[in-house]
Amino acid sequence: MIIRSAQNSDIPALLRLVSDHARRGDLLPRTALSIRDTLADWLVAEDENGNIAACVSLLFYTAVLAEVRSLAVSDKYKGNGVGRKLLAALIARAQEKQIPTLFALTRAVRFFEKAGFAITQKEDFPEKIWRDCFICPVKECCDETAVVLELAMSNEQ
Ligand SMILES: CC(C)(COP(=O)(O)OP(=O)(O)OC[C@H]1O[C@@H](n2cnc3c(N)ncnc32)[C@H](O)[C@@H]1OP(=O)(O)O)[C@@H](O)C(=O)NCCC(=O)NCCS
Repeated sequence: MIIRSAQNSDIPALLRLVSDHARRGDLLPRTALSIRDTLADWLVAEDENGNIAACVSLLFYTAVLAEVRSLAVSDKYKGNGVGRKLLAALIARAQEKQIPTLFALTRAVRFFEKAGFAITQKEDFPEKIWRDCFICPVKECCDETAVVLELAMSNEQ
């Protein structure tokens, strides 16, 4: 399994993977256009046959805050450490970009805790609430938990 930056030719596979999970209610849907416009912020896991096994993107809110977005592992590869590897690569990318705070809204809380994230309150991220939650059809009965990871920056001791 190779973890690499996404490229244009990955867009159809990314759209399929995210849409499959969005239909199940695990992820918010993305359009091909929104994927293309943010392609530089996506990572993929590619299997030995060149197929996309998993994806994730970093959504920037401010210079100091980004969300782990559209994290999905194809059913064939779930439970094999692919999600952990991909999330670790995304965390490393956020660190390179000097983003000190990463968050996610998720039902896979233990998965994120195992990667070092801590449970927090959605209200800590008004940027997210304004962007997505206000227009979300299940906002009144949202069962997602906010998790946050504070990253050490390279200029810190
Ligand atoms: C959540 C998801 C990304 C995990 O990816 P994965 O490759 O199956 O997970 P890994 O094999 O890397 O698991 C790493 C650890 O997290 C645990 N874990 C995996 N999925 C979990 C889940 N849904 N809930 C709780 N723990 C989970 C594993 O048991 C493993 O623990 P271990 O290190 O003690 O063995 C994947 O199941 C998925 O695509 N889910 C649907 C979409 C989704 O919910 N995305 C997150 C939205 S923010």
